[in-house]
Amino acid sequence: MTQDELKQAVAEAALAHVPEGEIIGVGTGSTANFFIDGLGRMRDRIKGAVASSEGSATRLAALGIPLFDLNEIESLSVYVDGADEIDAQLCMIKGGGAALTREKIVAAVAQRFVCICDASKKVPVLGRFPLPVEVIPMARMQVARALVALGGRPVWREGVVTDNGNVILDVHGLSITDPVGLELQINQIVGVVTNGLFAARPADVLLLGTANGVQTLKRD
Ligand code: 5RP
Repeated sequence: MTQDELKQAVAEAALAHVPEGEIIGVGTGSTANFFIDGLGRMRDRIKGAVASSEGSATRLAALGIPLFDLNEIESLSVYVDGADEIDAQLCMIKGGGAALTREKIVAAVAQRFVCICDASKKVPVLGRFPLPVEVIPMARMQVARALVALGGRPVWREGVVTDNGNVILDVHGLSITDPVGLELQINQIVGVVTNGLFAARPADVLLLGTANGVQTLKRD
């Protein structure tokens, strides 16, 4: 199977995790797009969605799925999204699509985070994928220096502006043995909006697309 076929398979499997009649949280990226397309086929069975990016919002709206502002909602039963890397504890690196901040906000409101990935994303230790950090533009160099002091090699994702009007630094060379600690440490740097470690709030369920079918892994 191709990587896209694996992504499509996990996206289809995630539809079974969508509760009827509710508003659900929807992530960003190519895997999430397959999920949105599936959601379009069952749009009459859900109340609507909260999107984690302008891109996902546009795709959801084009399929006739009502969009809700997160400020109107106290809690979501489920949030479905992809990841760039995920470990055995279901901690993740996200933000390859530059939507990490809104993804983390929507995930924070969800009771259950269902991560959908092809098998290439499952890793023993996070950090081979450069860690995205969303930064206030005027703080780019100051944050970069602080990330170097933490042992990383930040690279400015030139030309990319997030939905929030900020810039992204991709931090190479980190071997992340304490994802929760590093997530909190990077978020303490003045000028950082958020970073792409989803460890303090990891996924609850991983639907992993493999050549042998979709595997379901749950957090203990
Ligand atoms: C976007 C993300 C995506 O979930 C992540 O980049 C995975 O994308 P894809 O499903 O295209 O592989 O965090 O900010």
